[in-house]
Amino acid sequence: MNKSGKIGIFDSGIGGVTVLREIIKILPNENYIYYSDSKNNPYGDKTDEEIQQLCDNIVQHFIKEKCKVIIIACNTASSKAVKLLREKYPQIPFVAIEPAYKMVHDYAYDKPTLVMATKGTIDSEKFNLLLKKYDNHKTYLLSCIGLADRIEQGNKEEIKKYLKEHISIYQGKVQNVVLGCTHYPLIQKEIQEILGQVQFFNGAPNLAKHLKDILKEKKLLNQGEGKIEFEDSQGLEQKKKRFFQILKEE
Ligand code: DGL
Repeated sequence: MNKSGKIGIFDSGIGGVTVLREIIKILPNENYIYYSDSKNNPYGDKTDEEIQQLCDNIVQHFIKEKCKVIIIACNTASSKAVKLLREKYPQIPFVAIEPAYKMVHDYAYDKPTLVMATKGTIDSEKFNLLLKKYDNHKTYLLSCIGLADRIEQGNKEEIKKYLKEHISIYQGKVQNVVLGCTHYPLIQKEIQEILGQVQFFNGAPNLAKHLKDILKEKKLLNQGEGKIEFEDSQGLEQKKKRFFQILKEE
């Protein structure tokens, strides 16, 4: 594998941009190819088999692009497909996001916690093992069916309405919020407007550090100037625009 090889990163849509923006803070010299699978969005309600097949197709595309590492910037895809992908492609390092529930255990164990994620993630075996291991017994789980789609569409009024209906009951009850879907950091402000001063937990900064360690260890860190390519499975120009807009805002 080549130092200047691309890092492949994907999500069911543009949500994974919240992972990429943390990565480029500490790895600005890498070449990235971001794949947004908007054609098959949302992943949250799909079966394990469907998600595994979709992820496999994207991974094959990244292999053709000679990617040196693949990032799964989607909690739902990680929870359902990473095990299989690692078995099928042992030659490729996979780095996968997961809800930052261990961080709650490490930094704010005694506080009531709300985990927000897709139904797929909340129901998955992988997440349930994590929960069992770090359970603080003050945790509420919320399957946010339809929330990632609304964020993908970018309609602020719809998002606010959804949050009001679904998370108002946790106001005053929780102090920690785990953003267990990569789309959710994009609406942190709106969540805060309803829940007030809560502490957010997002797995992306730790994923970025872990990726850097892997690249160092494998002597794959790129020295040159990095660039970012964007692809969308429907070729949607407006997704590309929004994606780069969010990256620029940082
Ligand atoms: N952004 C994704 C996640 O982290 C999935 C959203 C969806 O397609 O349902 O789970």
